[in-house]
Amino acid sequence: MTSPTRISLDTSAPGPVVPRRLFGTFVEHMGRCVYDGIFEPGHATADDAGFRGDVLELVRELGATVVRYPGGNFVSGYRWEDGVGPRDQRPVRLDAAWHSTETNQVGLHEFAAWAEQAGLELMEAVNLGTRGVAEAADLLEYANHPGGTALSERRRENGRAEPFGIRLWCLGNEMDGPWQIGHKTAEEYGRLAAESARLMRFIDPDVELVAAGSSNHEMPTFGEWERTVLRHTAGLVDHISVHAYYEETPGDPASFLASGAALDAYIGEVADIIDEVRAERGITTPIGISVDEWNVWNQTRWNEVDKPEVFTGDWPVAPRLIEDDYTVTDAVVVGSLLITMLRRADRVSMANLAQLVNVIAPIRTEPGGGAWRQTTFFPFQLTAAAASGHVMVPVIDTGVIPTARYGDVGAVDAVATIAGDELSIFLVHRGLDAETPVTIDLDRSAARAEALVLTVPAGGDRHTVNTASSQPVAPASLAVEVSDSAVTLTLPPLSWARVSVRLNPGTNRVTA
Ligand code: AHR
Repeated sequence: MTSPTRISLDTSAPGPVVPRRLFGTFVEHMGRCVYDGIFEPGHATADDAGFRGDVLELVRELGATVVRYPGGNFVSGYRWEDGVGPRDQRPVRLDAAWHSTETNQVGLHEFAAWAEQAGLELMEAVNLGTRGVAEAADLLEYANHPGGTALSERRRENGRAEPFGIRLWCLGNEMDGPWQIGHKTAEEYGRLAAESARLMRFIDPDVELVAAGSSNHEMPTFGEWERTVLRHTAGLVDHISVHAYYEETPGDPASFLASGAALDAYIGEVADIIDEVRAERGITTPIGISVDEWNVWNQTRWNEVDKPEVFTGDWPVAPRLIEDDYTVTDAVVVGSLLITMLRRADRVSMANLAQLVNVIAPIRTEPGGGAWRQTTFFPFQLTAAAASGHVMVPVIDTGVIPTARYGDVGAVDAVATIAGDELSIFLVHRGLDAETPVTIDLDRSAARAEALVLTVPAGGDRHTVNTASSQPVAPASLAVEVSDSAVTLTLPPLSWARVSVRLNPGTNRVTA
């Protein structure tokens, strides 16, 4: 048993509204995310369009709200026109981003119809790598203009009479990265993003635009990139992106489990730059942070082992790329990153778990076989299902865990949301060795409470994963006690939990 944790919640002073777009996800034409992932004509569950029914069911169950598409690095070499019109006339192309062959059997029309079925808002990325202002504007006109022009009539001839009405648009992807097709300096990208934004807004004033921030916090240009890009685009864009992937360094699980602290600091630094540029330019409109790629990803293995092999081999269709098998530890980190983003909902306007199927994904599939939930599926699903109303940032009194990378972090981290009398508390316990008793003090009386926990399953260890044939990692119920205005429970070591409390109606009740 480690030192007890005390969490205090003041329900009379709720924070920002929970941005439901925080539970976005990402489908890239990469590896087996689209082909042999969501799309597999000939699979026993496939519909007439070729999309797998079993995968669609799992996507619905995951409860995501937004889907970013079609990349990622892929978009920086993509011609959107290749993916529209009769399928048998679509060109087969090299995809230089992932050293693969792109068949274009899935494009805007098929994907938008699938996203609609899955209940996902489409967030479309334009190519600012090999292409520019004109092609971005063409795609927008094709997608959103009602009719009567060459591009909008082409959409109608291709089977979509009504506009797609896509509101969210990413202005390119990771343009600061030398690996990116058409990589640019901050000046070059800032100008291009600003001019693309200007024309896109002329065509459709209702669009919401995301400027590409740094590819990661460790980029040598991080900070200056955001400042320069925002000086060009502030007033024209609504969000700037943050991409954040975390992995375990051998022998240092404590730092990995503290990844939320790193993301918190990253968000804070970008928020400061946004404030600085808005003040400098006298911009009054808000600029949100779109964490539009985040996850656990063993990038060291990809860069050092898999990528060199992939990039010197053939150009396969839908190769197995970065299909990380997620452990219990990874799932706990994913849950803790969601806690961090909810806590920073004052600045984080949306976020996309990268990616959705097979490629560093919560859902895995086998061609002709089954589809299953990885460990990381659960914290995402359980948070997305319950986080609504307003965010509440608790006061947490907990033990301390020293980490090599981020200094001391709290053993327990938590955030809560409140909607009417429904209170949800999301908790992570980063300690690896012992359980910790937790008391949650409320300023209102609780009628009842229940909890679910994700932790090491019986007979497993922190490296246990779910596979096609066996899925031992799943949420289990956790005992909680309610006594008037306190809820108590014990968190196992290495765990993520959701506590759902029904409050008695009180005088200081806040309605969602
Ligand atoms: O999600 C995988 C890749 O990670 C994306 O294509 C790219 O944007 C990022 O570097």
